[in-house]
Amino acid sequence: MNILMCRPDYFDIEYEINPWMHTSVKVQHSVAMEQWETLKDTYEKLGARITLVDQIEGLPDMVFTANAGLVWNRRAVVSRFQHPERQGEEPYWRRAFEGLGMETFDTPGEKPFEGAGDGLFVGSTLFIGYGPRSDRETHAAIAALLGVEHVSLELVDPRFYHLDTCFSPLGHDAALYLPCAFTEEGIAEIRKHVPHAIAVPQEVGDGFSCNALVVGEAIVATAALEGIAKELAAVGLRHIPMEMTEFLKSGGAVRCLSLPLDTGA
Ligand code: ARG
Repeated sequence: MNILMCRPDYFDIEYEINPWMHTSVKVQHSVAMEQWETLKDTYEKLGARITLVDQIEGLPDMVFTANAGLVWNRRAVVSRFQHPERQGEEPYWRRAFEGLGMETFDTPGEKPFEGAGDGLFVGSTLFIGYGPRSDRETHAAIAALLGVEHVSLELVDPRFYHLDTCFSPLGHDAALYLPCAFTEEGIAEIRKHVPHAIAVPQEVGDGFSCNALVVGEAIVATAALEGIAKELAAVGLRHIPMEMTEFLKSGGAVRCLSLPLDTGA
């Protein structure tokens, strides 16, 4: 697995665009750096390769590479951000994907779409969130561009504003989902399309634990995921807990800091 990451050189809370962010609660820079380095080392020990992109001063949320775009089979759809605060990232992400030799596209149309933050694959089915950040109108064109089937899921809890905060693929036929973040129809869609859909208890999900990445037989996520260790073991996964206090101040954690580049390849 090849994972795109961005070292948090200029990471801080400079604006508030989700309920977790408070400009009065600043990031402890050295702690953020340590937590990020530990995440990177963990991935490397699990056999993943890390590709780095430089953070640009004044774009504090660039550390969340999941929002750079959506990648499938060497094609990248560059995000169009909902908030002006993050729109400055777009040209840097376009350049990064082009530099990696990917066939690179802008998000079709005019509406926002926030990349792998809202677009996750279970097998080759693309699950796309909409509501707080991405617009449903973008979904069909994105799926067509990538040549995949898609399932649209409305996000209804402002705390879980990106799909990757409340839904986590576990390989080809399984996923975690946090029920409070979806409509009843959405939950029915998840259960219809994912053979092993595991509902995460509220207290486990509240700890941002669905923001997870599976690397081989490990699932890297915040400590709260320990609450479903048994269910994870049943699907052959072992949880590796990560301290993410500094990134949680921005409403992000493990998955947000990581963009797998070899999806579908
Ligand atoms: N502060 C960032 C924002 O609100 C956090 C992004 C988290 N990324 C993610 N993929 N969920 O945009």
